[in-house]
Amino acid sequence: MKIISVVGARPNFMKVAPLHRAFEASGKIESKIVHTGQHYDAKMSDIFFNQLGLPQPHYHLGVGGGSHTYQKANVMLKFEEVLLKEQPDLVLVVGDVNATTATTLVAVKMGIPVAHVEAGLRSGDRKMPEEVNRVVTDAICQYHFITEHSGLVNLARENTLSKGVHFVGNVMIDSLVYFREKAAEGTTLSELGLAAKSYLLTTMHRPHNVDNPEGLKDIVSILQRCASRLPVVFPMHPRTRNNLTKYGLMDQVLAIENLHLLEPQGYLQFLQLMDNARLIVTDSGGIQEETTYLQVPCLTFRDTTERPITVELGTNILMADLNPDTVMEEVDNILEGRAKTGVIPPFWDGHAAERICGILLGELEGNH
Ligand code: UD1
Repeated sequence: MKIISVVGARPNFMKVAPLHRAFEASGKIESKIVHTGQHYDAKMSDIFFNQLGLPQPHYHLGVGGGSHTYQKANVMLKFEEVLLKEQPDLVLVVGDVNATTATTLVAVKMGIPVAHVEAGLRSGDRKMPEEVNRVVTDAICQYHFITEHSGLVNLARENTLSKGVHFVGNVMIDSLVYFREKAAEGTTLSELGLAAKSYLLTTMHRPHNVDNPEGLKDIVSILQRCASRLPVVFPMHPRTRNNLTKYGLMDQVLAIENLHLLEPQGYLQFLQLMDNARLIVTDSGGIQEETTYLQVPCLTFRDTTERPITVELGTNILMADLNPDTVMEEVDNILEGRAKTGVIPPFWDGHAAERICGILLGELEGNH
């Protein structure tokens, strides 16, 4: 049986790695990887393949950046050629990036079943490009693998036609569990001269926050105030770096004392930084889940989340209002020992990929 798994952007790599490992270990699946090339820098892509033990992609579509239409249309044309040649039994897609939806459309139109891992998540905000990707992918794929209970509710509400909706847990947490010890051996903290639980880690890259000067100014002033309390570590996404430069705000960032501005980090380096942070301030999707697993306090600079379990059970707090005073109140709550505590959600145990592999084997063997 042949399964083609698709990756395109940074958050896909750590989700496909445990699946590829489980497929290979089954001895019954030929597992091939297609990289659409949406993320192309060495620090946004190559390093993850090396660290996560993923083989080099069997196909690299080399589509690169550009408008979402440009990306999707080019991925579709090139992915069709791959499918014609490979004739896989199934295409597996993860998450909510442009590659997820573009490749799903192609496979479904060619009559090839698609499994969506991390299905059913909804923020309810169709202005987020990821939300449109989620809704479209789930509406047409055949197998839905769910990370949290809200996914079941959302798919039922949308009357999703599916061969199977399976609540299996979280493959991104599989990677975290698998690599946590190795990450702890890293030297990132000592190189930065930082002790465990002594610093704030931040990432920021959502268009809503960083594509306009007003949002960026708020974020810079919040970071300035945070850095007066404790060291701030900021690995910067290329979108954010480009926009800070474009809007003339980079000098202000560089002038903040106590701020460690870093290039995008590898998986192991970033995991060590997360595991040892006193708190994390982010607008990422995945980091909300990773901090919940690690039980590190997390302030998410968004007014909605597609991952409500991280707020209900986990350590995540949504910050709709980026007024620096409001944010600093929450930061001080955490620093003064009043942080929200949480528990690890059901099935986030490091074995989601094995469950998915078992289910797919059962389904595909039935079809053969
Ligand atoms: C994409 C995903 C988002 C995910 C994020 C993680 C979609 C719709 N969005 O957003 O869900 O959270 O990845 O990083 O798929 N760039 C580089 N080098 C790279 C990659 C990007 O310079 O290796 C530049 C691009 O040229 C572009 C900007 O960064 O100017 C944004 O990249 P893009 O892939 O469009 O979206 P992301 O913001 O990364």
